[in-house]
Amino acid sequence: MSYELTIEPLGQTIEIEEGQTILDAALRAGIYLPHACCHGLCATCKVQVSDGEVEHGEASSFALMDFERDEGKCLACCATAQSDLVIEAEIEEDPDAENLPVRDFDGTVTRIESLTPTIKGVWIKLDEPMRFQAGQYVNLELPGGLGSRAFSIASAPSSDGEVELNIRIVPGGQGTTYVHERMQAGEKVRISGPYGRFFVKKSAR
Ligand code: FES
Repeated sequence: MSYELTIEPLGQTIEIEEGQTILDAALRAGIYLPHACCHGLCATCKVQVSDGEVEHGEASSFALMDFERDEGKCLACCATAQSDLVIEAEIEEDPDAENLPVRDFDGTVTRIESLTPTIKGVWIKLDEPMRFQAGQYVNLELPGGLGSRAFSIASAPSSDGEVELNIRIVPGGQGTTYVHERMQAGEKVRISGPYGRFFVKKSAR
């Protein structure tokens, strides 16, 4: 089941699936909503719901206070639609953003190399090329209930269908420990992306 999500002041209406967050629906439609932690903790993604009902998901009570819920606010990274929605968001136009829609990609790990004692280079051949801007990142899904982790793309946007990730091990970090100690060439992986706005600001030259 899906609903209609209208994003103001853009006036754009997109589809949002049941259980899909507002942020995910927007990014996959190529619409950038401000966000940071994506876990309901930082409030960067707070938007006003001007029509419709949402489920607040894992929004923390300090990032979204009770009175804000009463005012119709929600955290786009956690909130899911319970009806058609209209939201008001603060959207900053970025002249350098290509607004590439986020998508899921299946891929195969082709190579893993130790670049330094603490950094592994991981090369992933994607089933189809992913367009991205230099400086963007992807979410890499890890097996065994580890969830996904965000890693910057180290390869150039021109590298056809293969992305390189440089992954530093985080002491005690389950995700990076998996990559360093257990990930193998030939492993099937899934990534989503591209995410982020930390790209070259050509307009500032
Ligand atoms: S991005 Fe941090 S609370 Fe949504």
